[in-house]
Amino acid sequence: MLQGARVVLGVTGGIAAYKSIEVCRRLVDAGAHVQPVLTKGAGRFVGETTFSALASEPVRNSLWDEDDPIPHTTLGQGADVIVVAPATARLLADYASGRSNDLLTATLIATRAPVVICPAMHTEMWEHPAVQDNLAVLRRRGVHVVDPESGRLAGGDVGHGRLADPARIVAAVDAVLTEPDLAGVNVLVTAGGTREAIDPVRFIGNRSSGKQGHAIAEVAARRGATVTLVTTSDQPVTGPIEVISVVSAAEMHEAVASRSAQADVVVMSAAVADFRPVSVAGEKIKKSGGIPEIRLEPTVDILAELGGNKRAGQILVGFAAETTDVAANAQSKLAAKNADLLVANDVSAPSVGFEHDTNEVVIYGAAGTATEVALTTKVGVAERVLDAVLDLRLQSPAP
Ligand code: CTP
Repeated sequence: MLQGARVVLGVTGGIAAYKSIEVCRRLVDAGAHVQPVLTKGAGRFVGETTFSALASEPVRNSLWDEDDPIPHTTLGQGADVIVVAPATARLLADYASGRSNDLLTATLIATRAPVVICPAMHTEMWEHPAVQDNLAVLRRRGVHVVDPESGRLAGGDVGHGRLADPARIVAAVDAVLTEPDLAGVNVLVTAGGTREAIDPVRFIGNRSSGKQGHAIAEVAARRGATVTLVTTSDQPVTGPIEVISVVSAAEMHEAVASRSAQADVVVMSAAVADFRPVSVAGEKIKKSGGIPEIRLEPTVDILAELGGNKRAGQILVGFAAETTDVAANAQSKLAAKNADLLVANDVSAPSVGFEHDTNEVVIYGAAGTATEVALTTKVGVAERVLDAVLDLRLQSPAP
């Protein structure tokens, strides 16, 4: 977990150094204390002030620091994790051979913290046996490597060697710091708002972005769960997650119903339409035909159906986005749908719910518990919801 983690962010001299600014920002956003360490080469590509301002920490770049006579051991011993992004071929060679000729390489040798290396270089360099041998040495020593991706490289070339996406890098750092407390648990998550077609171009929908559900899926996967995500959202997902894309409530129902028997935990964070048009017009409804009358019929309440068929040990989590009487509505849904946990939020409050990156919720438990989660990121809410799931599993272990 990145919240409160002490992260040394090493930046070496490659064009991808500009992307490590985004890595720095994401680490800080996730609550980490980031100490940037730039090599001389990195300083030719990016400015120290950018990193200092983002991290609220002065950049370190010298072994000869007036205030700290042994900066490499101070940094190495104080870190929970060290991440180097981008890592050049030279950094890999120095680190693999144990050379400590600047602050970053000396810090890497002076630490017992886990290390995440994110190489970035031209394809020819990446494929060179010397680079691959150095990486093999580092991997054997337990260093975590976030492999580069294919795409556009400096100078307009296209090939393998581009620095991994910042989101992937931050997820990898988070994974290294995260205890796999959900290992062996099969988690099914739904996300996004369903769309109920009226005609080939129109639909009845809602404002759910899917961000909260995607965060739950990603955090569950990071915590070791086997995760299936049934989603209406096309936002990218980070981690080993099986993604099933759906559009309508009926498709979501089918996707969930065919997988729920294997799931130890089902998290229904999707905003599922309660009603859909009885029939879908085959052609676009024309204005000239007058005001259309669209008759609706109810959809299946997926959570209530799961609650009716719940097997022993299975945990069902519902969500409720409310604008009034949040507590009363949430508690009555919890009981009516036979859920174990109901996560309620007041979507009329600022920075809460739909489309935002933050959320503020209360997690109601079937045993009468109410856990308040103050305004935090959707990842933070995901952590707390999964903590509550874990607590339930520990109270009554699955048969
Ligand atoms: N839900 C569901 N299937 C539906 C409607 C809702 O599985 N057809 C689930 C949602 O995913 C959520 C929970 O039920 O986990 C509560 O959804 P919500 O829309 O808040 O409640 P409703 O029961 O639809 O009641 P209302 O819309 O009247 O508040």
